[in-house]
Amino acid sequence: MATDTAAPVPAAPPAPAPAEAPEAPQAFPVTVRVRRFLPDEGPEPFWQDFTVDVFPTDRILDALHKIKWEQDGTLTFRRSCAHGICGSDAIRINGRNRLACKTLIKDLDARKPIIVEAIKGLPLEKDLVVDMEPFFASYREVMPFLITSGNAPTKERLQSAEDRAIFDDTTKCILCACCTTSCPVFWTDGQYFGPAAIVNAHRFIFDSRDEGAEARLEVLNTKEGVWRCRTTFNCTDACPRGIEVTKAIQEVKRALIHR
Ligand code: SF4
Ligand code: F3S
Ligand code: FES
Repeated sequence: MATDTAAPVPAAPPAPAPAEAPEAPQAFPVTVRVRRFLPDEGPEPFWQDFTVDVFPTDRILDALHKIKWEQDGTLTFRRSCAHGICGSDAIRINGRNRLACKTLIKDLDARKPIIVEAIKGLPLEKDLVVDMEPFFASYREVMPFLITSGNAPTKERLQSAEDRAIFDDTTKCILCACCTTSCPVFWTDGQYFGPAAIVNAHRFIFDSRDEGAEARLEVLNTKEGVWRCRTTFNCTDACPRGIEVTKAIQEVKRALIHR
């Protein structure tokens, strides 16, 4: 005859009280004050305020999208990647050149209107869009490509890690123009090549595989070149890639002196 010898099952411990759900972040209104320019409607730029609901972690680019999609489809700005890589959405935010896609609302004082305008020193086309052609013309002048002589090698051109490190910083440029359009010399004298062109010249001048340094240095030794730089550092402060722009310019000046 079977006997029930199983030990009594202990009572299950009381279930823990459910953790309180973290409070969802709340959207709040901010005023974005945009310097608008609509050449089809009038010759003068004007300021226009938009109030838009944002989250602290939204970027200025998100706010601009909301305005465009929900309030005023004529608002015009450039952007492509939306992730700090393409360099197409450089604008002036509260007086500083920045990428709209890398500037978070929580890093600005959202109690005051956020001032948004086009970068300075290049021809204004519409709202936040400028004509980048003068900027790229200077870039092309410094021959931003590898120059070599002789036949193309059958395998890669070797370079030591130390030699690569010399110009590592200037390889990071995304040609956003934040630096050049924050430079007071560029504002007052449209002839200056500007820091971005010099950064991209630096990237090849100090590349041990390149043979075009002399030609680039000649270009930068002209009256539009590096000697226009007054070491103001605005360019370094403005660079969203953290490139030491002024240092690169100084290195090019030094290369000119010691060649
Ligand atoms: Fe933009 Fe910096 Fe390149 Fe200037 S150096 S164009 S700020 S990424
Ligand atoms: Fe202009 Fe930068 Fe020289 S802001 S003056 S290029 S250090
Ligand atoms: Fe590409 Fe901002 S949209 S860098």
